[in-house]
Amino acid sequence: MISLIYVSRALLPADGRDLALAQLVRSARAANARTQVSGALIFTGTRFAQLLEGEADPVHQLFELLQDDPRHTDIVKLAEWPIAVREFAGWSLAYEGPSAYVDGTISKTLALASRGSTPEVHHLVRMMVEFTRARDPD
Ligand SMILES: Cc1cc2nc3c(=O)[nH]c(=O)nc-3n(C[C@H](O)[C@H](O)[C@H](O)COP(=O)(O)O)c2cc1C
Repeated sequence: MISLIYVSRALLPADGRDLALAQLVRSARAANARTQVSGALIFTGTRFAQLLEGEADPVHQLFELLQDDPRHTDIVKLAEWPIAVREFAGWSLAYEGPSAYVDGTISKTLALASRGSTPEVHHLVRMMVEFTRARDPD
């Protein structure tokens, strides 16, 4: 299996944003349950950070689909690595809604990751794991 993490800039309508997010998360969860992809999504108010994990084929196929999704742009893949055990087992998609604090971490991660700094990416992953631990599986 693999884990893949990316960040992107949200292009959601200001009007009806919460509804658009709820719909996005609901259909993503249903699709991920079918393809046995698990992971976490953070929305900061302006950006998304998403970690996807599962067999390489379904994760890569989903990442291809995500590139063409008009609900976000400026997609930057931060890292991809092999895993033996899922970090988000039981979560078809853990979701954390508008978090300005995380936005700061993502900005920093983007700046440093483009220079190949993996500790920053690791920090972002830990943050996703921590908020997920505080919740019940979806
Ligand atoms: C930020 C973001 C995260 C998404 N996450 C997922 C996801 O985890 N799983 C999924 O199936 N689709 C996800 N989507 C939707 C896909 O981009 C795409 O719309 C969907 O896979 C298309 O499926 P369809 O062509 O079969 O309707 C996400 C979209 C956005 C904008």
